[in-house]
Amino acid sequence: MTLAGRTPRRGSALADLGLLREGAILLRDGVIAAVGPAGKVEKLKAARSAELLDLDGRIVLPGFVDSHTHLIHAASRAEEYELKIQGVGYEEIARKGGGILNSVGRLRSTASQDLKARARLFLERFAEYGTTTLEAKSGYGLDLTSELRILSLHKELDAEQPLEIVSTFLGAHVVPAEFRNRPHGGSDYCRLLEQELIPEVAANGLAEYCDVFCERSAFSLSESRAILLAGKKHGLRPRIHAEQLSSTGATRLGVELGAASCDHLEYAKPADVRFLAKSNTVATLLPGCDFHLGLDRYAPARKLIDAGAVVSLASDFNPGTSPSLSMPMVLSLAANQLRMTPAEAIAAATINGAYALGRHKTIGSLEAGKQADLAVFEVADYREIPYYFGVNTCWLTMKRGEVIHMRD
Ligand code: NIG
Ligand code: FE
Repeated sequence: MTLAGRTPRRGSALADLGLLREGAILLRDGVIAAVGPAGKVEKLKAARSAELLDLDGRIVLPGFVDSHTHLIHAASRAEEYELKIQGVGYEEIARKGGGILNSVGRLRSTASQDLKARARLFLERFAEYGTTTLEAKSGYGLDLTSELRILSLHKELDAEQPLEIVSTFLGAHVVPAEFRNRPHGGSDYCRLLEQELIPEVAANGLAEYCDVFCERSAFSLSESRAILLAGKKHGLRPRIHAEQLSSTGATRLGVELGAASCDHLEYAKPADVRFLAKSNTVATLLPGCDFHLGLDRYAPARKLIDAGAVVSLASDFNPGTSPSLSMPMVLSLAANQLRMTPAEAIAAATINGAYALGRHKTIGSLEAGKQADLAVFEVADYREIPYYFGVNTCWLTMKRGEVIHMRD
C-alpha cells in the first residue's frame, strides 16, 4: 500500500491506498529510491547490488504516524480505571483531584531519568505495532521546571532512539492545583502560560506546536484563544483538544486560527463539520478514548469524511483516557465504531497523520524521495489489519531504512 500522493486525502480519495501487487521497494541511505512492480524495480541498476529482503507475500505500508500522544507520564491510573468501570465519571474523578492532576502530582515527584526510561519502553512498543513517527505533548508538569523537563525529554528521546518525536507544548492541559484556591487562579495561570512558559519554551526551541484542552473542566474558549495566539506569536503552531466531552466552539476557533488539527470531536456540531471541511485543519479522531472511558458517543467520522474534511486517526496514548499505543487497535475501533472502511482508516493513520504534523513531504507514503519508514504486516489481505483486534500482526518495522522491530 503506497498511499502515494503528497497532499492530504479527503472524501472518496481517503479510500485510495495506491495498492500495488507483487511490488518492490528499493531503499538507499534511509530513503526510498524506487517503488513499483517487482519486475521493474529489480531491473534498476542500483538494485543489482542491493541486499534482498524477501517479504514472502506480506503487506507493506508506510509506518503509522501517530499524531496525538501524551507520551511522558509517570504512572498509569489503573485505580481510576476501576472507579470508571464502577460508574464514576471521568470529569467527576477530575473534580475530586484525580484525573490530569493525579498524573501531574506523580510526574513532579519523578526523576527525569525514570520518566525517560518509562518512555523508552513505550517507544519500543510503538515500533512493535508499526508506528514510526509520533507527536508527543507535555501537560503533566504544569509548572516551568516540570514542563521544560518533559519537553527536553522529547528532544533527547528524539535524538537517542529511532522513532521521530514531534514536540507539542500543552501547558494548557488543566489549571494546576496550586492556582485553584486563589481568587483569580485560572487567569493567573493563563497569564503565566502566555508571559513566561510559552516564551521560554519557544526561546529554547523545545516545541513545534502549542495545544490547549478547551473544555468546561479545563480552559474556556476565550482563554484558549489567548493562549493559542500567544503561542503563534512565538512561532508555535496551534492545535486544539476540541469538543471531546461537550460542545465548546473550539473547532471553529481552531479553524479560524489555522490550527494544524482539531482533535477528539465527539461533540462536534454540523457547523463544525462544515468549518473543518472547508479548511486545511485536520480532524484528528481518537476512538481509543471513548472505548477506554466506556462512552457510547464517538466522533461523526462519516459526516467529516463525506463533507471533505481531512480526517486522521491517532492513539491519544495517555494514562487517563487512552492507555493504548497500538495503531492497529485504533484502526479496529475506527472500523467498528467510526464506520470507516479499513482503507480509509489506514490512509487516516499514515498520509493524513503525516499532514497533521506538517511532515507529508517526507513521510506518510511510500514513494521515491520519502524517508524509508515502513511497516510490514503478516496478513493475507490488508483488511485483516483492523479485522484482528487486539492482535498484533505487525511483522517488521523500519525507520529511515533501519529495522527497528522484527518478529522472530
Ligand atoms: O486527550 N483531553 C485531555 N487530555 C487527554 C486526557 C488526559 C488525562 O486524562 O490524563 C486526552 O484525552
Ligand atoms: Fe489528548
